[in-house]
This record gives sequence, structure tokens and C-alpha cells, in this order.
Amino acid sequence: MARRKKLNDRSGRHDPAYLRAKRENFAARAIYKLEEIDKKYRLFRRGNRVIDLGCWPGSWMQYAAEKVGDEGYIYGLDLREVALALPSWVETDVADVYAWNPIETFGEDFARFNVVMSDMAPQTTGDRHSDVYRSEELCRRAFEIGRTVLRPGGKIVVKVFQGGGFRELLRELQLTYQEAKPFHARNTRSGSTEQYLIGRGLKASALLKPQPPPPSELAPSEATTIE
Ligand SMILES: C[S@@+](CC[C@H](N)C(=O)[O-])C[C@H]1O[C@@H](n2cnc3c(N)ncnc32)[C@H](O)[C@@H]1O
Repeated sequence: MARRKKLNDRSGRHDPAYLRAKRENFAARAIYKLEEIDKKYRLFRRGNRVIDLGCWPGSWMQYAAEKVGDEGYIYGLDLREVALALPSWVETDVADVYAWNPIETFGEDFARFNVVMSDMAPQTTGDRHSDVYRSEELCRRAFEIGRTVLRPGGKIVVKVFQGGGFRELLRELQLTYQEAKPFHARNTRSGSTEQYLIGRGLKASALLKPQPPPPSELAPSEATTIE
């Protein structure tokens, strides 16, 4: 009987997609998964505003930057600093997605975005149950950010390790977007349970209002003093 690989199995890292990405000067083999998704779901248009959650080392931003062109804008964030040279319409930050607040980055009345993409993955431990749970939590947080920063009609693509919460996550996407689909990329490593959830056409009724950070997080000069 075929054995399932652990989520942190590093065998086969230097597979053909890895070598191709190196040859073509992309930061990671993950580029080919986004390309596959984009070919099927037409994620990007020129001039689009895009947020990339978990953007390090940067191959998704390389792909999206080309697609949106210099009239577009890409903002990527990750726990790790991106060292890659990227076009001037791409900005990156070091941040934890759970602590990140769009108002702190873009101001109160920022222009809403066209696409949110998340390839975030937890640091895997080999304990499948806890790895899946943490991946599902990251997926939920990406959904929440999508509803907070996307404009009505916006699109989202989010990676998740498939487990017990998968149907519920898909259901949540179906309730908030006109169209919601799971997608398994051909370029996924064998044995991986990774799936992408794709939402197109964010419903206006699902929009969340960005909330300012709590006063304790404001600089002392900005905080309201109670006499
Ligand atoms: C598979 S990599 C992303 C690869 C990227 N799409 C590319 O093409 O180069 C997953 C990333 O998710 C990031 N990540 C995991 N948890 C995060 C969190 N809480 N906040 C921000 N980024 C996180 C990791 O640091 C890691 O760099």
C-alpha cells in the first residue's frame, strides 16, 4: 500500500520544476502553480492592485508584477524579508499576517484591491493534525483579509493543506464569492495534500470594514488622552 508522505518531507526538493525555476530566474518553483491557476481562472489584469500574503521568496510577485504591469501595484508581506530585486510597483513588508492591519499600511481610505493571493504555509512539524490545523487558520485569516481589502467583484486564491476543515472553508468561500472552486495544481509535489481555494466575484454583502488598530497600538502623540 502506498505510504502518505509527511507534510515536512523534503525529499524530491530538486525536482524538474525546481530546476526549471532556477533556470528561468524565478525565486521558487511555486511560480508554476500560480501560472496554472491564472491560466484557468484569469486572475490578473493590467493595472490591477494585488496583495500577496506569505510572499517570500517572491516568485508569485515576479509573476503578478509582469501581469499587472507598471500601472498596477503589488504589496507583499511575509515573516521573512524579501531579498529579491523587484520592479518599482512592488512593495514588500515584514509582518505577521495575524498582526497586520491594512489601515496602518495604507491609511484609512485606501483604494481597495482586485486580487488577494496567499501561498502561506505554516512551518511544518511533521504532526499532520497540527500542520493542517495551522494551515486552515492561515487560510481563514487570508479570507478575512480578502473581505477587508478587496473591492466587490475581487478575486482570491488561498493555499490550504486539505484536512477536516476543508469543506467548511470551501463553503465559506461559496457564501462570500459569486464563484468558489478548489484547485489542485499539477506542479504540486507528490504526496502533498496542498490545495488552492479560488474565489471570484467577492459579493458586496461580504465586505468587511477595515478597523483602525486599537488605541494602545497608536504612537503616544496619536492616542486620545482621557482627562
Ligand atoms: C510557500 S512560501 C510562499 C512562496 C511564495 N508564494 C513564492 O512564490 O515565492 C510560504 C510563506 O508563508 C509565510 N508565512 C507563514 N506564516 C505566516 C504568517 N503568519 N504571516 C506572514 N507570512 C507567513 C512563510 O514565512 C513562507 O515564506
